[in-house]
Amino acid sequence: MHTSRTPMVAGNWKMNGDLVTNEHLLAALRNTLNRSLTSRVDVVVCPPAVYLGQVTAWVGDTGIGLGAQNVASTGNGAFTGETSAAMLADLGCRWCLVGHSERRALLGETDELVGLKLGQLVQAGIGVIACVGESLAERENGITGEVISRQIGALLESMRAADPQALVVAYEPVWAIGTGRTATAQQAQEVHAQIRSQLRQAGLDADGIRILYGGSVKPANAAELFGQADVDGGLIGGASLVAEDFTAICRAALG
Ligand code: 13P
Repeated sequence: MHTSRTPMVAGNWKMNGDLVTNEHLLAALRNTLNRSLTSRVDVVVCPPAVYLGQVTAWVGDTGIGLGAQNVASTGNGAFTGETSAAMLADLGCRWCLVGHSERRALLGETDELVGLKLGQLVQAGIGVIACVGESLAERENGITGEVISRQIGALLESMRAADPQALVVAYEPVWAIGTGRTATAQQAQEVHAQIRSQLRQAGLDADGIRILYGGSVKPANAAELFGQADVDGGLIGGASLVAEDFTAICRAALG
């Protein structure tokens, strides 16, 4: 973690929760995530789209940012079932994930589609958390660097228009997501440094852009991961559904 960048911890709830469970989780977070924490760490929660309205009412004055998990690749119009960036902005979303590996793998999202979505968010003034990551086979075949470089490369044009403070990259090795198997701090740092150097070479303000690690981050491993020079916080799945774990991970980001 570099002192010039405000750390970020974002909770990706994925397709979990219901009105009552969310209420309990949010009430617990309100007790544990106090202002002294949220003024030093950018804390974001990303509930499923149908619960954005519920959560936006709650985040109000907590200092916690609201994020969405997905956005349409076009503006408003005849696109049944989609949610536009303008609609997310209207609901108070400050952040949105794009390119999560689950959407790439299960819903066929391509690098090109992820780039279009990123562009929509930048235009709407919503901060982007762009996810990249290699599969286990890709890592075992020694092509991690190549895969990450291709995924980042496809987004560079859309990234150029973004304010660096509102542009975040999340490195999530697919083999570490939901598996309990975390990348070592050294493995994470190596890929993060590569991403930062690619952003720099492309002429972006690489030192201003935060790069988060995601994949089985827990209270027990967060501090070591966040202690790496190019790891600026985390994108948290399972542990973001447990208030005390999510809070402990946010605290670990204070260094
Ligand atoms: P887990 O923390 O459950 O491994 O999920 C990581 C993730 O995919 C966050 O986007």
